[in-house]
Amino acid sequence: MNKFLKLIFIFSNIFIISCDNQKNMPENNIYKFPDNFLWGTSTASYQIEGGIINDWSTNGLDAGVSADSFNKYKEDINKIKFLNNNAYRFSLEWARIEPEKGKFDIKALQYYKNILKELKENNITPMVTLHHFTNPTWVSKNGGWENNQTINDFLKFVNFTVNELKDDVEIWITINEPNVYAFKAYDAGEFPPYKKNRESALKVMSNLLKAHAESYHLIHKIDKKSKVGFAQHIAILEPYFKLNPIDNIFVYFQNKIFNESFWESIISGEININIPGINGVNEPYNPNLKNAMDFIGLNYYTRWYVNSSGEQLIDKKSELTDIGWEIYPKGLSRSLKIADKYAKKIGIPIYITENGIDDGNDNKRNEYIINHTFEVWKSIQDGIDVKSYMYWSLMDNFEWAEKFKPKFGLYTIERKMRNSALTYKEISQNNGIKKDLLKIK
Ligand code: BGC
Repeated sequence: MNKFLKLIFIFSNIFIISCDNQKNMPENNIYKFPDNFLWGTSTASYQIEGGIINDWSTNGLDAGVSADSFNKYKEDINKIKFLNNNAYRFSLEWARIEPEKGKFDIKALQYYKNILKELKENNITPMVTLHHFTNPTWVSKNGGWENNQTINDFLKFVNFTVNELKDDVEIWITINEPNVYAFKAYDAGEFPPYKKNRESALKVMSNLLKAHAESYHLIHKIDKKSKVGFAQHIAILEPYFKLNPIDNIFVYFQNKIFNESFWESIISGEININIPGINGVNEPYNPNLKNAMDFIGLNYYTRWYVNSSGEQLIDKKSELTDIGWEIYPKGLSRSLKIADKYAKKIGIPIYITENGIDDGNDNKRNEYIINHTFEVWKSIQDGIDVKSYMYWSLMDNFEWAEKFKPKFGLYTIERKMRNSALTYKEISQNNGIKKDLLKIK
């Protein structure tokens, strides 16, 4: 290369680096998020409402009055307002709305209408989940999600509720964490119906996928302007021993099945969920499945190390939450990168629908929120179209098989504010993270 060309090369590199730095500079010392970014919290009906009879309450995991949000929803929305949030994700309890097959309870629906009215009056965008781990007892008696009939039953529930609520809801989440639900309920035996059968779990996954895809089209038919997606749980997976090929093979399969198979199926329109040694699910091209999502919903919590027995273990040397999950903020940007691979294929954005920490003493939540939201900011600078950050959760609640032990809330179950709520409030109010906050170590 002659000297002149060399100089041009050096200067152009300096120019590129300085532009890049500028792009990453905070505005007025605030790492700003895009206009209209949604800041909120997430909850789920069975975890907070109280007084629900469903397949959990009748199967040894009764949430009782829980956080009593059925009676305290106005107070909850006041907290959301106080936090300066412009969004709130909550779910509808199928068992409340359709306690008996085909009998829809209009009075039960009124409760959700009241919530939506209150949110509207306060300019808070709702994100409404249609299925969050729970079913009416008649559904479970009928074979639950292993029975193909449940897809049709679910669609009738979707048809009724979406028709009733469409005027006040634009963002619908059909199913929360289909991967977690299928494996915990049908493979690990931790959630009702407490099955331990991997083939059943795969069948349930494919039924949930079909239920999502059919709901996607149904909701669009009812309301053209709606945006429909599902919330996918992503776990960052690493080999326990980096150099052990068996650990690496397990990571490959778990990533493929647990993290990515839902997105793969939607992008391709085909269901191919296979685990060596068991009967998988392979179904031909289904046009209704193809590209059936308007956004990717992403729930991220932690990282697991997978050993040569396929067990997921935690690195105990790292900083842990109360229930022993690793605090790994970088995992959020890594998850966004995985999700974005699929989002970009069909040109859709990503909504972070859950991220949070159980931390009863509130010692680590401040830093957790700051570091995780900063990872989101960095991902946006890298060109990922992220539209929301929904902290899990507004208040402590019934944490499924762990009952009331984990404390994820910005508020306690008695609605006492934890200090970290003020940090989240500030970030939400500024639509960004003050540079000073990032100094907390
Ligand atoms: C679920 C929430 C749950 C949270 C924390 C997510 O997998 O969607 O319902 O409370 O994790 O455990």
